[in-house]
Amino acid sequence: MSRIAYVNGQYQPHSHANVHIEDRGYQFADGVYEVVTIVNSKMIDEEGHLQRLWRSLAELRIDAPMKAEPLKMVMREVVRRNGIVNGIIYLQVTRGVAPRDHPFPKNTPPALVMTAKRLSMDKAEKTAEKGVSVVTVPDIRWARCDIKSVSLLPNVLAKQAAKDNGAYEAFQIDADGMVTEGSSTNAWIVDQNGKVITRPTSNEILAGITRASLIRELEKKGVEFELRSFTVEELHNAREVFLTSSTSYVLPVVKVDEHVIGNGNPGSISMTLREIYREFMNAAS
Ligand code: PDD
Repeated sequence: MSRIAYVNGQYQPHSHANVHIEDRGYQFADGVYEVVTIVNSKMIDEEGHLQRLWRSLAELRIDAPMKAEPLKMVMREVVRRNGIVNGIIYLQVTRGVAPRDHPFPKNTPPALVMTAKRLSMDKAEKTAEKGVSVVTVPDIRWARCDIKSVSLLPNVLAKQAAKDNGAYEAFQIDADGMVTEGSSTNAWIVDQNGKVITRPTSNEILAGITRASLIRELEKKGVEFELRSFTVEELHNAREVFLTSSTSYVLPVVKVDEHVIGNGNPGSISMTLREIYREFMNAAS
């Protein structure tokens, strides 16, 4: 089945889908995006992702490209036309196409693009069973990391630093030596007392939808956790480390910089939380 993209009202072959060279996303990174996971042909946390999309748009004063119901219909159609059982859908909204000029253009409709991609559940499971490694990098991003902007250059540089070091992810460290989040994931630790810890939401991190759903599941199950910032030393000396995102779910980390975490295998609490999140996804799908 060949891939299909949605571009400003049209379904186009993915290989030929394109936008205008003066799309403000292309010239100014003036846009926002969402990545929604699909499991067993169902979207996980669709409402949470759409709420965050509306919020990102409102914060940047970009008009919504369409109302929620038609948007959901297009999302379903993209999933259907691409025959996605397990994978992701990517949505991007920019401030539209206009002659290059920094201020917001007048009378310019926002541009909406969607693509979809299959992901292998088996591969994800094998990765989780082994665990992944992480490096730390300085957080050089702007003061509105709560907005899911397509302006991702620091995140791209951070992820490349991870790749250059044979790692899966880079955790970013703020000027006070505290961990903010990964380049495309939220960061968590389990301290030596077995307490699960992640940073509270603020303008310094993205309010991850996976993070929020895992927190809800922990509350339901009465698993204790703490919302607080933690230092890079706490990260290095943690009993367990894991990360969350729509594409990684709950993923154990077994090495951070040169520090082996625990015995170098995924920690039991991380694996239990992965299982809890998996049950949540299965119930939703
Ligand atoms: N990234 N932090 C950052 C900086 C992110 O870009 C993401 C998501 C997350 C996790 O958020 P969520 O649980 O809602 O996926 C945290 C997506 C997957 C991406 O850029 O591909």
